[in-house]
Amino acid sequence: MSLLSQQELRSLAHEYGTPLYVYDAATITGQYKKLSSAFAETDTRFFYACKALTNIQVLKHINGLGCSVDCSSINEVKLALRAGFDPGNILYTSNGIHFSEIEEAQGLGVHINIDSLSNLEKFGRKFGHSYPVGIRLRPNIMGGGNLKVSTGHDKSKFGIPVDQLDKILTLVSTHNLYIQNLHIHTGSDIKDVDTFIKGIDVLFDIIPSFHELDSIDLGGGFKVPYQEGDAETDIPLLAKKVKEAFDNHPNSDGRHLQVWFEPGKFLVSAAGYLVTEVNVLKETSATTFAGVNSGFNHLIRPMFYEAYHRIENISNPTGVQKEYSVVGNICETDTFAWDRKLNEVREGDLLVFYNAGAYGFEMSSNFNSRFKPAEVLVENGKARLIRRRDEFEDLLRNQVINQELKMKN
Ligand code: LLP
Repeated sequence: MSLLSQQELRSLAHEYGTPLYVYDAATITGQYKKLSSAFAETDTRFFYACKALTNIQVLKHINGLGCSVDCSSINEVKLALRAGFDPGNILYTSNGIHFSEIEEAQGLGVHINIDSLSNLEKFGRKFGHSYPVGIRLRPNIMGGGNLKVSTGHDKSKFGIPVDQLDKILTLVSTHNLYIQNLHIHTGSDIKDVDTFIKGIDVLFDIIPSFHELDSIDLGGGFKVPYQEGDAETDIPLLAKKVKEAFDNHPNSDGRHLQVWFEPGKFLVSAAGYLVTEVNVLKETSATTFAGVNSGFNHLIRPMFYEAYHRIENISNPTGVQKEYSVVGNICETDTFAWDRKLNEVREGDLLVFYNAGAYGFEMSSNFNSRFKPAEVLVENGKARLIRRRDEFEDLLRNQVINQELKMKN
C-alpha cells in the first residue's frame, strides 16, 4: 500500500524534523491514472477537490497531470490560479456563501456551481444568459461512510433539493439563465458504486428540463482503503456502470454530456504520511500510552470521524509486537488509536500515520499554540520542503501587540 519506504521516511524525519507531513507525487499520479484509464471510454473530466490538500506545490503537480480542480472557497480558487490552473479548468462548487464571492468567481472566469435558490436568483438578475453556470442539487440520497461526511440526504444543508425543481425552472425561465452543468455530491467514503448510479438516475429525470447542459457532475467521495482488507470504491466497475447508464439513456435532444467527478481523497490520501516522534511512554492499569509530538491539531480525522489510520513504528520494525494507545500532546483527549498492536515502542521512536494526505494538514490548527508541521514533497525521486514548520513569530503574526488603549476624552 505504501510507496515510500520506512528507510526514506526515517531519513526525511532526520533531515526535516518531526512532526512532518510527507507527500509522494508518484502516488498521486498513479491514482489519477487509475481514474483516467478506467473511464477512458466515457467522456469524463476529473476536478481534484482541493479541499483535501491545498499546498501549492501539490496543486502544481496535479495541474501538470492535466487534471482540473474543484474549489470550495474563493481563496481556493485564487490558490488554484496561483498554481497555474487555467480558469477554464477551475470549478467553484459553492455552498452557503455570500453572493459577492460568486461575483468574484465570475470575474475570474471559472466554472461555478450554485447551491441555493437565493444565489441562483441573484445570479440571474445580474448575469442573465451571459455567463454559463451549474446548479448544485441535493438528490435526497443517503451515501458516504458516516453521517458527518454524508451530504446528499434529505436533511443535508448542501444543494437545492431536487423536489424544488419547479422553483429552479421558474428562475431559469424568468432570468433566461444559461444552465451548463448539474451537480450532485452525496458524501465521502462512498464504497457502494450504486450510490453514484442512483444519483445519475435522479439526474436523468431532470436533465430533459435543461436545454443548454453540456456536463453533469457526480461530485467526489470515492472510498480509499485505510487498512489491510479495507474495501475501496471499485473504480473499473463504476466506470462500466456509468457508461451503461449513459448508453441506456440517450439524451432526448441529442446533446452530448460530459461526466465530471471531483475526487479528493482518492487522489491524495495514500500519498501522505505524518511522521511523529514518541515523547513519552506511560504504563497504566488500562493501557500503555505512547504519547507522540502531535495531536488532533495535526491530524483530526481519528478524533472527529473515528477514522482508522494505520500506524507503524518505523524505528523498530522488527521489535516484538505489543499493544499501545497512541495519543497526542494536546491538553484535551486526543487518542489516535486505542490498544493498537505496534512493534515495541521506545521513547524517541518514529511513528508514522498512513493515509494522511487528505484532510490531514488541511484540517490542522494551532490549537494549544503549537506549530503546524512542515510539509515535504517527494517528486522525481527528490524530496523538497514545500512548507516550512511554523515558528514562534507565526503564532503572533496577525495579533495586535502593544496596543495603546485610547481613552475617550
Ligand atoms: N466535491 C464536493 C462538493 C465535496 O464537498 C467534497 C468533499 C468532495 C468533492 C471530495 O470528496 P472526497 O473525494 O475527498 O471524499 N474531512 C472528511 C471528508 C469531508 C469531505 C467534504 N467534501 C474526512 O476527512 O473524511
